[in-house]
Amino acid sequence: MKTAVVYYSLEGNTEYAALKVAEALGADVIRIRPKKAYPTEGFKKFFHGGKDATFKSRPELEPYSFSRDGYDLVILCSPVWAGTFTPPLRSFLAENDLRGMRVAVMVSSSGGNTAKCISQISEAAGAETLAAEVSLVDPKTRPSEENERRIAAFIEELENIRRTEE
Ligand SMILES: Cc1cc2nc3c(=O)[nH]c(=O)nc-3n(C[C@H](O)[C@H](O)[C@H](O)COP(=O)(O)O)c2cc1C
Repeated sequence: MKTAVVYYSLEGNTEYAALKVAEALGADVIRIRPKKAYPTEGFKKFFHGGKDATFKSRPELEPYSFSRDGYDLVILCSPVWAGTFTPPLRSFLAENDLRGMRVAVMVSSSGGNTAKCISQISEAAGAETLAAEVSLVDPKTRPSEENERRIAAFIEELENIRRTEE
């Protein structure tokens, strides 16, 4: 099952988990980045990202290579911003029609509610159901056994799907 891990990460937490999953599954990694990077410091960090997330902005992305035809499974990974998913992932989903594809979702937050964010990603991707989903709490900056357990369970769920497919 050819798998793509598509992720945006501002400060490395989503990236940490996305790369772990990609390595375990032997997946291709597609990192998405806005042309104009979001600030990582102070008030601006929450202001700009929070505003763009709330207004469902779709910033222009740096070039990336992805074609849905190459994959059986796409794992979409994003931090939670203002209760929803990040503008760069919104741009990616606007540029790539994933309807009919098998999709899994991984989100990273600082501990807020993530159910809405996960269902919004699923809806924006046009997925009727998700192959798997996982919610992490700052897995890089606040490492915990719980995060590692959830990452491992997510990988296992996807491996099980692969086993039944092959
Ligand atoms: C602009 C902005 C808005 C955020 N909004 C939320 C939020 O609504 N709920 C939450 O739990 N965490 C929120 N966070 C925290 C991040 O989701 C969390 O720290 C995440 O693990 C960061 O992932 P990253 O290191 O991959 O960027 C926000 C962070 C930023 C920068």
